Amino acid sequence: AMLLAITGVAAYLLGSVPFGIVMARLFGLGDLRKIGSGNIGATNVLRTGNKLAAFLTLVLDAGKGAIAVLLTRALVGEDAAQLAGFAAFFGHCFPIFLGFKGGKGVATFIGTLLALAWPVGLAACATWLIVAAVTRYSSLSALVAAVLSPVAALFLGRPELVLLCILLAVLILIRHRENITRLLNGTESRIGKKSA
Ligand code: G3P
Repeated sequence: AMLLAITGVAAYLLGSVPFGIVMARLFGLGDLRKIGSGNIGATNVLRTGNKLAAFLTLVLDAGKGAIAVLLTRALVGEDAAQLAGFAAFFGHCFPIFLGFKGGKGVATFIGTLLALAWPVGLAACATWLIVAAVTRYSSLSALVAAVLSPVAALFLGRPELVLLCILLAVLILIRHRENITRLLNGTESRIGKKSA
């Protein structure tokens, strides 16, 4: 139990590192929270027009979920790996370093899933890409990928991941409340549109 608690806290702290804010600062793009949607994720970094900074944010935010899972799997075990993935995701959404006002968890969700069960992670990536290609909405793509992830886990023979996927999908839905309102209003911004 002690080991699980330490694992959870470590993964939470890793997940709390807001790479979008770090990249925006490193690339001299300003305070990400004052740009576009104000979110700390790769989609919002892309609104600055800097594709490399956005790509690095995506990779690092996904990477912190994946690293949390892979390290925990190697050091503790498979059940603890699920907990670590969840903790990293939770850290991204409610980071201690930003007064618990964090992101929407999409990249960290993808990285966590890829590390826990790569076919399920790939299914989520493919879903995101297909919806994005058709609609150009990052938020809608994430919502569809998240909601379908428990189904993907089930069909890909990973029933032990269904509960985690449901939990992550519910949190992703909650974190996208404002996006959902904008999608329904027709005021959500599309990928590839700059905004200052
Ligand atoms: O990854 C978050 C994405 O789904 C929405 O981001 O900046 O458009 O609110 P944003």
